[in-house]
Amino acid sequence: MTSQSAPESIRKRIAQLQKELLDHDYRYYVLADPVISDQEYDRLMRELTELEEHYPEFRTPESPTQRVGGEPAKEFPAVTHTRPMLSLSNTYNENELYDFDRRVRNGLGDENVSYVAEIKFDGVAVTLHYEKGVFHLGATRGDGMQGDDITANLRTVRSIPLQLRNDGRNYSRLEIRGEIIMFKDDFFALNEFREEHGQRLFANPRNATAGTLKLQDSKIVAQRKLRFFAYQLLSDDVKSDSHYERLNMLLDMGLPVGNKFERYTSVEKVIGFCRNIEKERDELPYEIDGVVVKVDSLSRQDKLGTIAKSPRWATAYKFTARKAETKLNAIALQVGRVGTITPVAELDPVLLGGTTVKRATLHNEDEIKRLDVRTGDTVIVEKGGDVIPKITGVVKEKRPKGTRKFSFPDECPVCKSGIKRLDGEAHYYCMNTECPAQIRGRLEHFVGRQAMDIDGLGEAIIDQLINHKLVITPADLYDLKKEDLVPLDRMGEKSASNLINAIEKSKAQPFNRILYALGIRHVGLGVARVLAGEFGSIEALQKATEEELTNVPEIGPRIAQSVVAFFQEQNNSEMIGRLKKAGITFATEHRKQKKQTRKEKTFVLTGALESLTRDEAQALIETRGGKVSLSVSRKTDYVVAGSGAGSKLDKARELNVTILNEEEFLNMVKEN
Ligand code: IVH
Repeated sequence: MTSQSAPESIRKRIAQLQKELLDHDYRYYVLADPVISDQEYDRLMRELTELEEHYPEFRTPESPTQRVGGEPAKEFPAVTHTRPMLSLSNTYNENELYDFDRRVRNGLGDENVSYVAEIKFDGVAVTLHYEKGVFHLGATRGDGMQGDDITANLRTVRSIPLQLRNDGRNYSRLEIRGEIIMFKDDFFALNEFREEHGQRLFANPRNATAGTLKLQDSKIVAQRKLRFFAYQLLSDDVKSDSHYERLNMLLDMGLPVGNKFERYTSVEKVIGFCRNIEKERDELPYEIDGVVVKVDSLSRQDKLGTIAKSPRWATAYKFTARKAETKLNAIALQVGRVGTITPVAELDPVLLGGTTVKRATLHNEDEIKRLDVRTGDTVIVEKGGDVIPKITGVVKEKRPKGTRKFSFPDECPVCKSGIKRLDGEAHYYCMNTECPAQIRGRLEHFVGRQAMDIDGLGEAIIDQLINHKLVITPADLYDLKKEDLVPLDRMGEKSASNLINAIEKSKAQPFNRILYALGIRHVGLGVARVLAGEFGSIEALQKATEEELTNVPEIGPRIAQSVVAFFQEQNNSEMIGRLKKAGITFATEHRKQKKQTRKEKTFVLTGALESLTRDEAQALIETRGGKVSLSVSRKTDYVVAGSGAGSKLDKARELNVTILNEEEFLNMVKEN
């Protein structure tokens, strides 16, 4: 069929539907004031899709039906940014905002400055190019100079108009920068789906957004419900010198600009805005990590310029550690490898400081009594300077009827043997060293990354080894033969050989790791390193008395007692004998020079960590007496490498600096 034969009424109906759907998107995403239901919207969309299928000559690239399409991309072409995409300097308290204000006013030589305060979205920065009002290119920030062309993925984001409204169409070129985010509810739904399908979960909406934008199949991106919020209109053709006016122009052109932005003539008012937003932040449907404060005048922005990679005319005011309310569904009891029974709160998932929290420790019986926390309660979860979420209170007004005080059972939840709370200890212990939870815990600890680092021995395999009675103590691992492994679930010839090789390889681990792997109570990585350095061999350590142990500055009586008790136990000496026979050397090759360990350690952070921000990591280091430095040198003790770590990591390798991954870093923090 050709356009000549298509009735005029059809052409009109198509144009009308295109416009109507565009308007509905605008009402929904920009005005947050939809006038039709989702079903009605879908009905209009179906009608348009069908009409365009019959009369493709009326289908334009900007039609609302044309958000998804094309073949999956093989790779994303590079895009050089028209102007660098900068990052922002951070401020953490009101005094630092006053400092910022002073620097700005000094820089401009003027007492009167207008600021725009707006929300700092916690997502992924992108830039959008429009030509004559039509969206034609979208890219990631990349390294700030060059990003990836992800136009196809961005076209699927319904809050990005494929065509601008009003004045937007009159400009030959416009560039709009902003943030792609995922709403909290959409994030939870996505993770729920992924959990059901056995896929890896995303730690937070930002990671989910970044992961989604990297997908090569835009059809999947379209299902993920990403959102866009604009925060910058670049273009010399736009006459206005005011950022505030430009944000309003963006709204008029059909772009969402976030719920709140204000212009103020004093930093006090800006601080008031920050306080209000911080109070309201949990009510917002998306994650934010602060407020961005910008000098309103663009010519004054230019005058102030940039320093390093951040503008002098803007700063991010970052919020501090968070609390959140959520429902406590159950108090579970976990049995650790030394029999410690820890109560754990199972929670309705809640976002806290950029990660999803589903469980939080309740420490011990006294803590539960102190808080009087009960199943069904609404509780307050906090993530402070420490990374581990804690329950810090109960919202008593929200307590449902019929809850009961929690009482500790008198038997182990796993093996049902008696449990005991020892004098002076806060914890109950399962006294049965053959308890399956303990056996499993000891094995998991022994093979862990920080310990013997045996690859391919995940939870599922360990469970099978225990169930088939192939392994009870770590020493049994070294008697395993390939024939034992092949019949296990999810284990082929190849993985069986790999596992045998990995077990063999673990024999070469250094003494301090082996010592840590033994799982002696109170002997973490740090203590194991000290003991290995001081005593040099397992024989020397086995002979050491409590007094000799406490003579070592880092070793207190609690650790000393625990070490002595461990070696007194016959099962343990037997196990060590077998491990030695298997070929493990329990000795340090070079005894360490004493007394250097007291020096403060220098850390360099690089790449993105999953469970905490840079600032949180830095705080953890500093509160423990360490130092954070920006570049890697021979003086660096540790490089903490997150995902996407680049040149600093290479440098660390080159200089042979110890590299820690996130898990290792967190464990080290816990030890200290
Ligand atoms: S303005 C030169 N405004 O924060 C200033 N950025 O650390 C450019 N961000 O990469 C950014 N909300 O991804 C600006 N309202 C906002 C923002 C915002 C979030 C992100 C953006 C940028 C990062 C800077």
